[in-house]
Amino acid sequence: MADNSSRAGSSYMSREVLDWTNQTHAPHDSGLAAAFDTPAATGIPAIMVGASEGKLLTMLLKLVGARTVVEIGTLAGYSAIRMARALPADGTLITIEFDAKHAALARDNIEKAGMAKVIRVEEGRALEVLPRIAGPVDAVFIDADKGNYDHYGRWAAKNVRQGGLLLGDNSFYFGKLLGDSNEAAAMRRFHEEAREAFDTVNIPTPDGLLLGVRR
Ligand code: SAH
Ligand code: DHB
Ligand code: MG
Repeated sequence: MADNSSRAGSSYMSREVLDWTNQTHAPHDSGLAAAFDTPAATGIPAIMVGASEGKLLTMLLKLVGARTVVEIGTLAGYSAIRMARALPADGTLITIEFDAKHAALARDNIEKAGMAKVIRVEEGRALEVLPRIAGPVDAVFIDADKGNYDHYGRWAAKNVRQGGLLLGDNSFYFGKLLGDSNEAAAMRRFHEEAREAFDTVNIPTPDGLLLGVRR
């Protein structure tokens, strides 16, 4: 019998099937709905993680008992709110965003979701903000400019505690992972170097989620 790899390059995951499973397992309450819906409503690209990836982030952080998380790329705060819900009330999620409009919208959504005590939005370029963050942390979620994923992965290798998580969205790089661009090459380095410090697997979400557990 053929295993699921025989479906490589095709997909059982139609929009309708994905919507149904999202609704069944990862529905939005008002806090999540605001963060998910406000980008489109305010002319910002709606490029947040899907509902299932968001719920997966929550569950993975719970599984490792995370208390401190760093996110690179906030947008409107959707994934930050998903992750913050895995943390204890005195936990901390620092999320980095260089676009002032995105950061302002995220702060508003985070406040409305009741997460202002847990989530801190740091405004600035990630490569400049990261050196000011003191590790160790329990997890790093990378979801910003794809051409710097290799740098972000190196920061994570230095700052994630043993047993903590590396999470990298868009690890298929929109299907262009094997392409000639500098960004594709940086994304491949991210994958390859991650293996040096983490036990890794690429989870085939629509655009891939690289998961690493720090050795
Ligand atoms: N994680 C969010 C989506 C992030 S979209 C979610 O799932 O809800 C990527 C975000 O990264 C955008 O808001 C973009 O402005 C920001 N970004 C891109 N390059 C950046 C950089 N070098 N430093 C900080 N933020 C960056
Ligand atoms: C884009 C960025 C993302 O992080 C994502 O998950 C989807 C799309 C983008 O830049 O188009
Ligand atoms: Mg992404």
